[in-house]
Amino acid sequence: MLSKRNEQMIRIGVIGLGGMGLHQARTFNRVTACQLVAGADLSAEMRTRFAQTFLQAQVYTTPEELLAQAKVDAVVIAVPTAFHQPIASAALAARIPVLLEKPMARTVAQCHRLIDDAERTNTLLMVAHCRRFDPYWTAWGEYVSSGKLGAPVLWRDIRAGVGPGSWYLDEGLGGGPLLDGAIHNYDFANWIFGEPESVLASAIKLEPAVSAIDTGSTIIRYRTGHQLLLSWSWVARGTTLHDVIGPEGFIQFGTAGMSVPAEEQGHYQYCCFTDRAGAQTLIKTPKQPDMYTFQAEHFLACVRGEAICQSPGTEAIKAVAVAEAVLEAGREGKARSIG
Ligand SMILES: NC(=O)c1ccc[n+]([C@@H]2O[C@H](COP(=O)([O-])OP(=O)(O)OC[C@H]3O[C@@H](n4cnc5c(N)ncnc54)[C@H](O)[C@@H]3O)[C@@H](O)[C@H]2O)c1
Repeated sequence: MLSKRNEQMIRIGVIGLGGMGLHQARTFNRVTACQLVAGADLSAEMRTRFAQTFLQAQVYTTPEELLAQAKVDAVVIAVPTAFHQPIASAALAARIPVLLEKPMARTVAQCHRLIDDAERTNTLLMVAHCRRFDPYWTAWGEYVSSGKLGAPVLWRDIRAGVGPGSWYLDEGLGGGPLLDGAIHNYDFANWIFGEPESVLASAIKLEPAVSAIDTGSTIIRYRTGHQLLLSWSWVARGTTLHDVIGPEGFIQFGTAGMSVPAEEQGHYQYCCFTDRAGAQTLIKTPKQPDMYTFQAEHFLACVRGEAICQSPGTEAIKAVAVAEAVLEAGREGKARSIG
Protein backbone atom coordinates (compact mmCIF):
# COMPACT_ATOMS: atom_id res chain seq x y z
CA MET A 1 0.00 0.00 0.00
CA LEU A 2 1.27 3.43 -0.90
CA SER A 3 0.36 6.73 0.67
CA LYS A 4 1.87 10.19 0.74
CA ARG A 5 0.33 13.46 1.91
CA ASN A 6 1.34 17.03 1.48
CA GLU A 7 -1.39 19.62 1.06
CA GLN A 8 0.99 22.20 -0.50
CA MET A 9 1.87 20.05 -3.49
CA ILE A 10 0.60 19.86 -7.07
CA ARG A 11 -2.54 17.73 -7.04
CA ILE A 12 -2.42 15.05 -9.75
CA GLY A 13 -5.25 13.01 -11.23
CA VAL A 14 -4.76 10.03 -13.53
CA ILE A 15 -7.34 9.23 -16.22
CA GLY A 16 -7.14 5.64 -17.47
CA LEU A 17 -5.94 3.23 -14.79
CA GLY A 18 -4.79 0.30 -16.94
CA GLY A 19 -1.18 -0.79 -17.39
CA MET A 20 0.33 2.61 -18.13
CA GLY A 21 -2.02 4.65 -15.97
CA LEU A 22 -1.09 2.58 -12.92
CA HIS A 23 2.59 2.91 -13.78
CA GLN A 24 2.23 6.69 -14.08
CA ALA A 25 0.30 6.79 -10.81
CA ARG A 26 3.09 4.90 -9.03
CA THR A 27 5.66 7.26 -10.51
CA PHE A 28 3.84 10.45 -9.51
CA ASN A 29 3.11 8.98 -6.08
CA ARG A 30 6.86 8.48 -5.62
CA VAL A 31 8.29 11.76 -6.88
CA THR A 32 8.38 14.78 -4.62
CA ALA A 33 6.42 18.00 -5.07
CA CYS A 34 3.12 16.41 -6.01
CA GLN A 35 0.26 14.52 -4.48
CA LEU A 36 -1.70 11.81 -6.27
CA VAL A 37 -5.29 12.72 -5.39
CA ALA A 38 -7.55 11.08 -7.98
CA GLY A 39 -8.00 8.43 -10.63
CA ALA A 40 -10.74 7.67 -13.17
CA ASP A 41 -11.51 4.61 -15.26
CA LEU A 42 -14.62 3.18 -16.89
CA SER A 43 -13.64 -0.27 -15.64
CA ALA A 44 -14.71 -1.22 -12.11
CA GLU A 45 -11.82 -3.69 -11.89
CA MET A 46 -9.24 -0.99 -12.66
CA ARG A 47 -10.88 1.44 -10.22
CA THR A 48 -10.74 -1.14 -7.43
CA ARG A 49 -7.09 -1.94 -8.11
CA PHE A 50 -6.23 1.77 -8.04
CA ALA A 51 -8.24 2.42 -4.87
CA GLN A 52 -6.56 -0.46 -3.06
CA THR A 53 -3.10 0.76 -4.09
CA PHE A 54 -3.51 4.50 -3.40
CA LEU A 55 -5.60 4.80 -0.26
CA GLN A 56 -5.47 8.60 -0.22
CA ALA A 57 -6.90 9.05 -3.74
CA GLN A 58 -10.51 9.65 -4.79
CA VAL A 59 -11.79 7.36 -7.51
CA TYR A 60 -14.16 8.36 -10.33
CA THR A 61 -15.81 6.46 -13.15
CA THR A 62 -15.56 9.01 -15.95
CA PRO A 63 -12.98 11.62 -16.95
CA GLU A 64 -15.73 14.25 -16.78
CA GLU A 65 -16.42 13.47 -13.11
CA LEU A 66 -12.75 13.68 -12.21
CA LEU A 67 -12.26 16.96 -14.06
CA ALA A 68 -15.35 18.51 -12.45
CA GLN A 69 -14.98 17.24 -8.89
CA ALA A 70 -11.42 16.32 -7.96
CA LYS A 71 -9.87 19.82 -7.80
CA VAL A 72 -6.72 18.63 -9.53
CA ASP A 73 -3.89 20.96 -10.62
CA ALA A 74 -2.84 18.63 -13.48
CA VAL A 75 -3.84 15.33 -15.09
CA VAL A 76 -2.08 12.37 -16.67
CA ILE A 77 -4.12 10.74 -19.46
CA ALA A 78 -3.44 7.07 -20.24
CA VAL A 79 -6.45 5.74 -22.13
CA PRO A 80 -6.48 3.95 -25.52
CA THR A 81 -5.05 6.26 -28.18
CA ALA A 82 -8.32 6.95 -30.02
CA PHE A 83 -9.69 8.63 -26.86
CA HIS A 84 -6.68 10.87 -26.18
CA GLN A 85 -8.02 13.89 -28.04
CA PRO A 86 -11.55 14.17 -26.61
CA ILE A 87 -10.40 13.61 -23.03
CA ALA A 88 -7.36 15.89 -23.29
CA SER A 89 -9.50 18.57 -24.97
CA ALA A 90 -11.92 18.42 -22.02
CA ALA A 91 -9.04 18.87 -19.55
CA LEU A 92 -7.59 21.77 -21.56
CA ALA A 93 -11.05 23.40 -21.73
CA ALA A 94 -11.01 23.35 -17.92
CA ARG A 95 -7.48 24.89 -18.07
CA ILE A 96 -5.96 21.84 -16.40
CA PRO A 97 -2.38 21.06 -17.55
CA VAL A 98 -2.10 17.69 -19.30
CA LEU A 99 0.54 14.99 -19.54
CA LEU A 100 -0.85 12.91 -22.41
CA GLU A 101 0.44 9.43 -23.15
CA LYS A 102 2.00 8.75 -26.54
CA PRO A 103 0.99 8.61 -29.37
CA MET A 104 -0.37 12.15 -28.99
CA ALA A 105 -3.56 11.07 -30.83
CA ARG A 106 -4.75 8.54 -33.37
CA THR A 107 -4.64 11.05 -36.27
CA VAL A 108 -2.79 14.21 -37.23
CA ALA A 109 -6.15 16.01 -37.44
CA GLN A 110 -6.81 15.19 -33.77
CA CYS A 111 -3.31 16.46 -32.89
CA HIS A 112 -4.08 19.81 -34.57
CA ARG A 113 -7.27 20.06 -32.53
CA LEU A 114 -5.30 19.51 -29.31
CA ILE A 115 -2.66 22.11 -30.22
CA ASP A 116 -5.44 24.63 -30.95
CA ASP A 117 -7.11 23.84 -27.62
CA ALA A 118 -3.84 24.23 -25.69
CA GLU A 119 -3.07 27.55 -27.41
CA ARG A 120 -6.58 28.94 -27.01
CA THR A 121 -6.69 28.13 -23.29
CA ASN A 122 -2.98 28.89 -22.74
CA THR A 123 -2.66 25.55 -20.95
CA LEU A 124 0.28 23.14 -20.86
CA LEU A 125 0.00 20.11 -23.16
CA MET A 126 2.97 17.78 -22.75
CA VAL A 127 3.12 14.42 -24.55
CA ALA A 128 4.73 11.53 -22.70
CA HIS A 129 7.51 10.77 -25.16
CA CYS A 130 9.47 9.17 -22.35
CA ARG A 131 12.55 8.42 -24.47
CA ARG A 132 13.33 12.15 -24.46
CA PHE A 133 13.86 11.69 -20.72
CA ASP A 134 15.69 8.36 -20.93
CA PRO A 135 19.35 8.67 -19.85
CA TYR A 136 20.15 5.56 -21.94
CA TRP A 137 18.71 6.79 -25.24
CA THR A 138 19.90 10.36 -24.73
CA ALA A 139 23.44 9.06 -24.05
CA TRP A 140 23.69 7.33 -27.43
CA GLY A 141 21.72 10.15 -29.06
CA GLU A 142 24.48 12.54 -27.97
CA TYR A 143 27.07 10.33 -29.71
CA VAL A 144 25.09 10.71 -32.92
CA SER A 145 24.32 14.42 -32.47
CA SER A 146 27.93 15.28 -31.69
CA GLY A 147 29.10 13.63 -34.92
CA LYS A 148 31.17 10.80 -33.37
CA LEU A 149 29.64 8.34 -35.85
CA GLY A 150 30.06 10.72 -38.78
CA ALA A 151 27.15 11.37 -41.15
CA PRO A 152 24.85 10.18 -42.43
CA VAL A 153 23.95 7.41 -39.99
CA LEU A 154 21.57 4.50 -40.28
CA TRP A 155 19.57 3.59 -37.13
CA ARG A 156 18.18 0.06 -37.33
CA ASP A 157 15.55 -1.18 -34.88
CA ILE A 158 14.18 -4.58 -35.83
CA ARG A 159 11.81 -6.36 -33.47
CA ALA A 160 9.40 -9.23 -33.64
CA GLY A 161 7.47 -10.73 -30.78
CA VAL A 162 4.06 -11.00 -29.23
CA GLY A 163 2.80 -7.45 -28.68
CA PRO A 164 0.21 -6.06 -26.27
CA GLY A 165 -2.76 -7.25 -28.38
CA SER A 166 -6.21 -5.96 -27.36
CA TRP A 167 -7.15 -2.45 -28.65
CA TYR A 168 -3.52 -1.90 -29.70
CA LEU A 169 -4.17 -4.10 -32.77
CA ASP A 170 -7.44 -2.38 -33.63
CA GLU A 171 -6.93 -0.04 -36.62
CA GLY A 172 -9.18 2.71 -35.25
CA LEU A 173 -8.27 2.49 -31.57
CA GLY A 174 -4.54 1.81 -31.58
CA GLY A 175 -3.15 1.51 -35.11
CA GLY A 176 -0.72 -1.40 -34.51
CA PRO A 177 3.05 -1.47 -34.01
CA LEU A 178 3.95 0.92 -36.83
CA LEU A 179 1.99 3.61 -35.00
CA ASP A 180 1.91 2.78 -31.32
CA GLY A 181 5.21 0.95 -30.83
CA ALA A 182 7.35 2.80 -33.35
CA ILE A 183 6.12 6.27 -32.27
CA HIS A 184 8.97 6.31 -29.73
CA ASN A 185 11.47 5.89 -32.60
CA TYR A 186 9.75 8.42 -34.84
CA ASP A 187 9.77 11.06 -32.10
CA PHE A 188 13.34 10.36 -31.00
CA ALA A 189 14.57 10.37 -34.60
CA ASN A 190 12.78 13.67 -35.27
CA TRP A 191 14.56 15.01 -32.18
CA ILE A 192 18.10 13.91 -33.06
CA PHE A 193 17.96 13.64 -36.87
CA GLY A 194 15.80 16.70 -37.65
CA GLU A 195 13.01 16.99 -40.20
CA PRO A 196 11.81 13.75 -41.83
CA GLU A 197 11.59 13.90 -45.60
CA SER A 198 10.10 10.70 -46.98
CA VAL A 199 9.13 7.16 -46.10
CA LEU A 200 9.07 3.81 -47.81
CA ALA A 201 7.09 1.07 -46.15
CA SER A 202 5.98 -2.48 -46.60
CA ALA A 203 3.16 -3.50 -44.31
CA ILE A 204 1.23 -6.71 -43.91
CA LYS A 205 -1.37 -8.34 -41.75
CA LEU A 206 -0.16 -11.74 -40.65
CA GLU A 207 -3.05 -12.21 -38.23
CA PRO A 208 -6.40 -12.07 -40.06
CA ALA A 209 -8.36 -11.63 -36.83
CA VAL A 210 -7.07 -8.11 -36.17
CA SER A 211 -7.91 -4.92 -38.08
CA ALA A 212 -4.57 -3.06 -37.76
CA ILE A 213 -1.41 -3.68 -39.76
CA ASP A 214 0.40 -5.99 -37.36
CA THR A 215 3.77 -6.34 -39.13
CA GLY A 216 5.86 -4.10 -41.35
CA SER A 217 9.11 -2.46 -42.29
CA THR A 218 9.87 1.15 -43.11
CA ILE A 219 12.82 3.28 -44.15
CA ILE A 220 12.48 6.93 -43.15
CA ARG A 221 14.85 9.46 -44.70
CA TYR A 222 15.66 12.76 -43.00
CA ARG A 223 16.75 16.03 -44.63
CA THR A 224 20.12 15.61 -42.88
CA GLY A 225 20.70 12.38 -44.85
CA HIS A 226 20.24 10.15 -41.78
CA GLN A 227 17.94 7.16 -42.08
CA LEU A 228 15.81 5.12 -39.70
CA LEU A 229 15.16 1.51 -40.67
CA LEU A 230 12.39 -0.07 -38.64
CA SER A 231 10.90 -3.49 -38.83
CA TRP A 232 8.27 -4.42 -36.28
CA SER A 233 5.80 -7.20 -35.74
CA TRP A 234 3.41 -7.71 -32.85
CA VAL A 235 2.36 -11.16 -33.98
CA ALA A 236 5.42 -12.88 -35.47
CA ARG A 237 7.89 -14.58 -33.18
CA GLY A 238 11.41 -13.38 -33.71
CA THR A 239 14.24 -11.45 -32.17
CA THR A 240 15.71 -7.95 -32.05
CA LEU A 241 18.50 -6.18 -33.89
CA HIS A 242 19.31 -2.68 -32.71
CA ASP A 243 22.28 -0.58 -33.79
CA VAL A 244 23.32 2.77 -35.26
CA ILE A 245 25.93 2.78 -38.03
CA GLY A 246 27.85 5.73 -39.49
CA PRO A 247 31.00 6.23 -41.56
CA GLU A 248 33.13 6.93 -38.46
CA GLY A 249 31.82 4.19 -36.18
CA PHE A 250 28.83 2.33 -34.87
CA ILE A 251 26.83 1.82 -31.69
CA GLN A 252 25.59 -1.59 -30.60
CA PHE A 253 23.04 -1.96 -27.83
CA GLY A 254 24.14 -4.07 -24.88
CA THR A 255 27.74 -4.69 -23.84
CA ALA A 256 28.85 -5.94 -27.29
CA GLY A 257 30.88 -8.66 -25.59
CA MET A 258 32.79 -6.29 -23.27
CA SER A 259 32.99 -7.37 -19.65
CA VAL A 260 31.42 -5.34 -16.86
CA PRO A 261 32.03 -5.67 -13.10
CA ALA A 262 29.68 -8.16 -11.45
CA GLU A 263 28.50 -5.58 -8.90
CA GLU A 264 27.27 -3.29 -11.73
CA GLN A 265 25.01 -5.91 -13.27
CA GLY A 266 21.32 -5.10 -12.96
CA HIS A 267 22.05 -1.47 -12.07
CA TYR A 268 23.20 -0.09 -15.42
CA GLN A 269 22.26 -0.18 -19.10
CA TYR A 270 25.00 -0.37 -21.68
CA CYS A 271 25.68 0.32 -25.29
CA CYS A 272 29.02 0.20 -27.02
CA PHE A 273 30.61 2.66 -29.45
CA THR A 274 33.20 1.21 -31.84
CA ASP A 275 35.26 3.67 -33.88
CA ARG A 276 36.78 3.15 -37.34
CA ALA A 277 39.99 1.80 -35.81
CA GLY A 278 38.04 -0.78 -33.82
CA ALA A 279 38.48 0.89 -30.41
CA GLN A 280 35.47 0.20 -28.19
CA THR A 281 33.96 2.57 -25.62
CA LEU A 282 31.26 1.30 -23.28
CA ILE A 283 28.51 3.89 -22.68
CA LYS A 284 26.85 3.16 -19.34
CA THR A 285 23.85 4.79 -17.71
CA PRO A 286 22.18 3.99 -14.37
CA LYS A 287 18.79 2.25 -14.60
CA GLN A 288 17.42 4.39 -11.78
CA PRO A 289 15.99 6.99 -11.69
CA ASP A 290 14.20 5.81 -14.81
CA MET A 291 12.85 7.82 -17.75
CA TYR A 292 9.33 7.95 -16.29
CA THR A 293 10.66 9.61 -13.12
CA PHE A 294 12.59 12.23 -15.08
CA GLN A 295 9.52 12.75 -17.29
CA ALA A 296 7.24 13.25 -14.27
CA GLU A 297 9.69 15.68 -12.65
CA HIS A 298 9.92 17.65 -15.89
CA PHE A 299 6.13 17.81 -16.21
CA LEU A 300 5.79 19.10 -12.64
CA ALA A 301 8.48 21.71 -13.28
CA CYS A 302 6.53 22.82 -16.38
CA VAL A 303 3.27 23.01 -14.38
CA ARG A 304 5.05 25.24 -11.84
CA GLY A 305 6.34 27.39 -14.70
CA GLU A 306 9.95 26.55 -13.90
CA ALA A 307 10.85 24.74 -17.15
CA ILE A 308 10.21 24.97 -20.86
CA CYS A 309 8.39 21.85 -22.02
CA GLN A 310 10.75 19.43 -23.81
CA SER A 311 7.92 17.40 -25.35
CA PRO A 312 5.08 19.77 -26.32
CA GLY A 313 2.18 18.83 -28.57
CA THR A 314 3.74 20.92 -31.34
CA GLU A 315 6.65 18.43 -31.41
CA ALA A 316 4.68 15.24 -30.79
CA ILE A 317 2.38 15.89 -33.76
CA LYS A 318 5.41 15.39 -36.03
CA ALA A 319 5.80 11.80 -34.84
CA VAL A 320 2.12 11.10 -35.56
CA ALA A 321 2.63 12.63 -39.03
CA VAL A 322 5.48 10.17 -39.64
CA ALA A 323 3.31 7.30 -38.41
CA GLU A 324 0.44 8.32 -40.71
CA ALA A 325 2.84 8.50 -43.66
CA VAL A 326 4.28 5.06 -42.83
CA LEU A 327 0.83 3.47 -42.58
CA GLU A 328 -0.28 5.13 -45.81
CA ALA A 329 2.91 4.15 -47.66
CA GLY A 330 2.54 0.60 -46.32
CA ARG A 331 -1.06 0.33 -47.45
CA GLU A 332 -0.38 1.83 -50.88
CA GLY A 333 3.02 0.17 -51.38
CA LYS A 334 4.74 3.32 -52.60
CA ALA A 335 7.08 6.05 -51.37
CA ARG A 336 5.48 8.92 -49.53
CA SER A 337 6.93 12.36 -48.82
CA ILE A 338 6.34 14.04 -45.47
CA GLY A 339 5.40 17.66 -44.86
N1 LIG B 1 5.11 5.50 -22.65
C1 LIG B 1 5.10 4.20 -22.65
O1 LIG B 1 6.14 3.57 -22.49
C2 LIG B 1 3.78 3.47 -22.81
C3 LIG B 1 3.70 2.10 -22.55
C4 LIG B 1 2.45 1.49 -22.67
C5 LIG B 1 1.34 2.23 -23.07
N2 LIG B 1 1.46 3.56 -23.35
C6 LIG B 1 0.29 4.35 -23.79
O2 LIG B 1 -0.58 4.54 -22.68
C7 LIG B 1 -1.95 4.57 -23.13
C8 LIG B 1 -2.73 3.51 -22.34
O3 LIG B 1 -2.18 2.22 -22.60
P1 LIG B 1 -2.36 1.00 -21.57
O4 LIG B 1 -1.39 -0.04 -21.95
O5 LIG B 1 -2.37 1.50 -20.17
O6 LIG B 1 -3.82 0.52 -21.97
P2 LIG B 1 -4.79 -0.38 -21.07
O7 LIG B 1 -5.75 -1.00 -22.02
O8 LIG B 1 -3.99 -1.25 -20.14
O9 LIG B 1 -5.54 0.69 -20.15
C9 LIG B 1 -6.40 1.68 -20.66
C10 LIG B 1 -7.43 1.99 -19.59
O10 LIG B 1 -8.24 3.09 -20.05
C11 LIG B 1 -9.57 2.84 -19.62
N3 LIG B 1 -10.46 3.63 -20.46
C12 LIG B 1 -10.81 3.42 -21.76
N4 LIG B 1 -11.60 4.42 -22.20
C13 LIG B 1 -11.75 5.26 -21.17
C14 LIG B 1 -12.46 6.48 -21.00
N5 LIG B 1 -13.17 7.05 -21.99
N6 LIG B 1 -12.42 7.08 -19.80
C15 LIG B 1 -11.72 6.54 -18.77
N7 LIG B 1 -11.04 5.39 -18.87
C16 LIG B 1 -11.05 4.77 -20.05
C17 LIG B 1 -9.75 1.34 -19.77
O11 LIG B 1 -10.82 0.86 -18.97
C18 LIG B 1 -8.39 0.82 -19.31
O12 LIG B 1 -8.37 0.51 -17.94
C19 LIG B 1 -1.90 4.31 -24.64
O13 LIG B 1 -1.95 5.52 -25.33
C20 LIG B 1 -0.55 3.65 -24.86
O14 LIG B 1 -0.03 3.84 -26.15
C21 LIG B 1 2.65 4.19 -23.20
